[in-house]
Amino acid sequence: MRFIPALGLAAALLLSGVGGAGAQQKFESLRGDVPIDQLSKNDNMFRPERDQDLIPRDFQKQPPLIPHSIKGYNITQNFNKCMDCHSKERAEETGATLVAKSHYLDREDKKHPNISPRRYFCLQCHVPQFDAKPLVANTYKPAAKRGE
Ligand code: HEC
Ligand code: HEC
Repeated sequence: MRFIPALGLAAALLLSGVGGAGAQQKFESLRGDVPIDQLSKNDNMFRPERDQDLIPRDFQKQPPLIPHSIKGYNITQNFNKCMDCHSKERAEETGATLVAKSHYLDREDKKHPNISPRRYFCLQCHVPQFDAKPLVANTYKPAAKRGE
């Protein structure tokens, strides 16, 4: 697996893979044995990768990984840098993939002219691509694509 999935997903995989089977597997965290307050900015886990080709999605409803650097792309109460390129008004001009239609719907499926509040914090679900080595061995295989 070449990405760091959103934390919830990682937890779910860990629980089903490790806890479920009752097997205990030794694993080392990304920061190794270095205590969290002694990490330096030069450590690998803080080094984002350069813009690159998209890693294909592993299942249909996976939030796609971010194939570009997001350094300095801030999301504040009044401004969402991601939507500067990804909104339906800007996507064509910037060449960014238009956010999915679902991103304009609220939880009652009501369509909004702007990004839905529940999709506002993009990094809650989308993470930059990173060639992370798996922390524990797993046998997960991407779901077959339709028609294969
Ligand atoms: C300066 C314009 C710009 C900004 C700002 C920007 N993006 Fe992008 N983004 C792009 C472009 C262009 C692509 C398409 C790259 C490609 O297809 O190779 C892209 C691709 C993506 C994809 C992959 C979509 C797919 O096709 O599967 C995701 C996810 C994404 N961006 C998320 C974000 C998030 C989250 C932010 C804010 C933190 C953000 N982007 C900010 C331009 C931008
Ligand atoms: C609650 C989780 C969540 C949040 C928050 C979220 N997304 Fe997504 N995003 C997804 C999922 C899941 C998909 C793929 C399934 C779908 O189409 O809904 C997706 C798809 C996309 C795509 C690909 C659309 C396509 O047609 O292939 C882009 C681009 C994208 N999101 C950008 C963003 C940006 C930019 C933000 C913030 C403004 C954002 N997303 C916020 C979950 C999220």
